Amino acid sequence: MRLGVNIDHIATLRQARMTNEPDPVYAAVIAELAGANGITVHLRQDRRHIQEQDIELLRRIIKTKLNLEMAVSMDMVKVALRLKPDICTLVPETPEEVTTTGGLDVMMYAEKIEEVAGNLQAAGLDVSVFIDPDIDQIKATHRLGIGIIEINTGEFAKNWNNNYSKLELDKIEKSVSYSKKLNLKIYAGHGLTFQNVSSIAQIKEIEELNIGHSIIANAAFLGLSEAVKRMIQLIN
Ligand code: PXP
Repeated sequence: MRLGVNIDHIATLRQARMTNEPDPVYAAVIAELAGANGITVHLRQDRRHIQEQDIELLRRIIKTKLNLEMAVSMDMVKVALRLKPDICTLVPETPEEVTTTGGLDVMMYAEKIEEVAGNLQAAGLDVSVFIDPDIDQIKATHRLGIGIIEINTGEFAKNWNNNYSKLELDKIEKSVSYSKKLNLKIYAGHGLTFQNVSSIAQIKEIEELNIGHSIIANAAFLGLSEAVKRMIQLIN
């Protein structure tokens, strides 16, 4: 199972002082050297952390895979076509949210998603959608010709140490089995930590986990390299 490291919060720290450190490009290099299989960034429409210039530099420097999380908008398509990530992950985005809350509603926004995904795919970029572990969302994604899903583990993560965790894990496992039958590539992420990652990592059909906040938070105490290595150890 691969690990994509989301480095947004290195940029959050930099933007808190509007200065030039810590540098997300350094973070990406350290994460790769520690064994990360990919680097993920969310270019938010309010540009609160990662900036376009960061992605331009990352595109030139990183040696693994660059995953751009983006809102479903034609403005973002223009940006993505210029920045040329390896994959674009479509996520819901609202200005007030602290972080991505919930998966994209593929049924509700099918037309817009089809337009955005179609434009990205036509330019040779892979497209994934971030969705809740829900069979109807999986069916809707498949109908749009999108071959990769990232399952939102946020609800599982929120509940991992209470009675709901089994229920949430069950939803994820059922979604994984169903997606496998449709031949979708399955990624997962959101809210994963050293404590809860192993329950998700034991689902072998999941090819990749995208993890940010917990790795960056632990990096403050352990160093980024050590935090990435520890997460890889727990996944494996
Ligand atoms: N996957 C997606 C689609 C996300 O939006 C995020 C958060 O930016 C993550 C994974 C990583 O979540 P976390 O920072 O909680 O590990």
